[in-house]
Order: sequence, then structure tokens, then C-alpha cells
Amino acid sequence: MDDLRNKYLMAIAAAADEAALEALRLQAIGKKGEVALMMRGLGKMDPEQRLVEGPKLNALKDEITSALAARKAALADAALEERLASEWLDVTLPGRSAVRAPGTIHLVSQVTEEVTAIFADMGFVVAEGPQIETDFYNFDALNIPGHHPARQEMDTFYLQRAEGDERPPHVLRTHTSPVQIRSMQANGAPIRVIAPGRVYRADYDQTHTPMFHQIEGLAIGKDVSMANLKWVLEQFFAAFFEVDGIKTRFRASHFPFTEPSAEVDIQCSWVDGQLRIGEGDGWLEVLGSGMVHPHVLRSAGVDPEEWQGFAFGIGIDRLAMLKYGAPDLRAFFDSDLRWLRHFGFSALDVPTLHRGLSR
Ligand code: PHE
Repeated sequence: MDDLRNKYLMAIAAAADEAALEALRLQAIGKKGEVALMMRGLGKMDPEQRLVEGPKLNALKDEITSALAARKAALADAALEERLASEWLDVTLPGRSAVRAPGTIHLVSQVTEEVTAIFADMGFVVAEGPQIETDFYNFDALNIPGHHPARQEMDTFYLQRAEGDERPPHVLRTHTSPVQIRSMQANGAPIRVIAPGRVYRADYDQTHTPMFHQIEGLAIGKDVSMANLKWVLEQFFAAFFEVDGIKTRFRASHFPFTEPSAEVDIQCSWVDGQLRIGEGDGWLEVLGSGMVHPHVLRSAGVDPEEWQGFAFGIGIDRLAMLKYGAPDLRAFFDSDLRWLRHFGFSALDVPTLHRGLSR
């Protein structure tokens, strides 16, 4: 009986899993197990011997039963330990942000914000106007009469009038210049406004989309001059492109609503096919500008004998392409997520005139 006890207690202690334990249980104390066979042997013993051997056999059976239970519990503990070790989680790690990336600020919104913030630092107030404009605000008030060739050059989208309605059709505004008229009508002079917004022209290629963005500047005072225009634009370019002392070139030009008019180029160079703004001896046209034409002041209710000033119009998308190296304007409006993420901005990139962008 001692041999039996030793054999089973050792085997149980060494059992690797529950299946091995069950096999041992059957082999030892199952109905046909070794202990059961010995119990059957009790019948052949004389009563005195049976009184001694019977309890011993029962005790052996109990001992094996509790050894099996103890081993089973130990195996379960070990399995739990192993799980705890392998599924360990460091709750002190910082949280993971949402799997789906949050939305980003569109390049056009970002650049609009940058330009607006820089001019706001110079005392310009933001103004807006409607995208569907009247013929008067988009053309006539800006000294572009009906026969003027500038009307054809602008590839204007016209809205249809009802049949028999002879009034000139509304247009999708071809530039932000109508906001000059609207702001002077609303606030008179002196005035300093910056007017960003959508404009429309029937044109489509790598650098033109039928809808694009401009930002209009207007400064009217008693003695606002062309020199002021040049200084303001130079401050702007230095802040926007983050290049001190960036050179500008004013080229004589013509717009019906300014006299004199100038197209403004900024200094640039091409190095290994890469555009570098603010260095070298190349020039890149970036905006139209000039001294506001007396006819324009008059049609907005401002007396040109008393007031004068400058205006300019910048293509926002063009600035964005130059500053952030986006080569195809059409991609701006395709809403391709890869493009949006690549050129997207976080909401925290706020520019100022003196500090530039934080990123
Ligand atoms: N409105 C002109 C354009 O769209 C730009 C401009 C604005 C020129 C103001 C002079 C003054 O091309």
C-alpha cells in the first residue's frame, strides 16, 4: 500500500495538465482502479484483518483524492499567472488617440487665416461680400463699363434672368474687388479692409479652377500713397514667406479700377527645379494693385477730392501653392483624403506678423 501511495502521489505532483490528472484518477481510484481492486480483496480477508486494512484503504483513497484536487488547483493558478503575465497592461501609458485621424484645416483656410492675421496686425478689418454679385458691383462701380474688354477677359459666369427680363444678369463674382465698393458704401472713409473669399471664372488647368480664392485689400485715407502700398506689401511678404528683406518689383500695368496700376512680383530663384522664394534674381507675379480710381471712390460715395488710397488683390490659392509646394490647384478641391492629410493643418497653427507660424 505504501508503494501505491508513493507511486500515485509522485505522479500526481508531476502531472502537467488536467487530462493527465484525470487519467491518474481513473487508474488509481476509478471503478476499475488499483485501489478499487484492493478494496475488492478485503472480502477475502478475515474480519480482524479487514478492520485494520479497510480504514487504511479508505484513507489512501482520500489522500489520493485530495492530492488530485490540490494539483488541479495548482495547475489552474499557474495558468492564471501565465495569463496575467502575458496579458499585462501598463495603465500608466498615455492614452492612444482615436484610430481615425481627426479632421484638418484645409490649405486654403489656413492660408486665408495667415494672410488675414498678418493684415489684421497692420490694422486691416475683415470684410465680406456675396459670391453672387450684381453687374453693378462686379463691373460698373469698378469703372468697367459694358463695352469694356475687361468683361470678356474675365471669363464671367452669368446667371440666367427670367425670360423677358431685360436687366443685366447677376454674375458669380470674378474678383473680390466688389467688396471695395460695398465696404466704402457701408463705412465711408477712412477705411482699411481685407476681404477674403471665393471668386469664379470659366477656366480649368493645372493652375486654374473655375472657383478659386482672392483676398482684396483696401486702404483709404487723406494721404494714403503708393509708397504706403509698397511698404504694406513688403511687410506682408516678409511675414507670410518668413523671409526678412524679401524684394518686390512693381511693374506698370492696367486695371480699370486703379490708376496708376501695378502688378507686383516677388524675388525668387529656381534651384534644382525647386522654387525658392525671397532669394536670387528671378521674379514671380503674385498680385495686382494700384491707387483706387476716382471713379471707383465716387461710385462708392467717397469724395475723391478729399480721399485717396490703394487697393490690391491677391490669389490665395496661388500663395498657398507657392508657400507649401502644392503643384496642382485642381487637387485643392478634389477632397482626396491623402491630399487633405498631407496638406492639412492642425487648428493650433496661428500666425502673427512678427512670429510666423508655430510649426
Ligand atoms: N481685381 C483684380 C483681379 O482680379 C486684382 C486687383 C485688385 C487689382 C485690386 C488692382 C486692385 O485681377
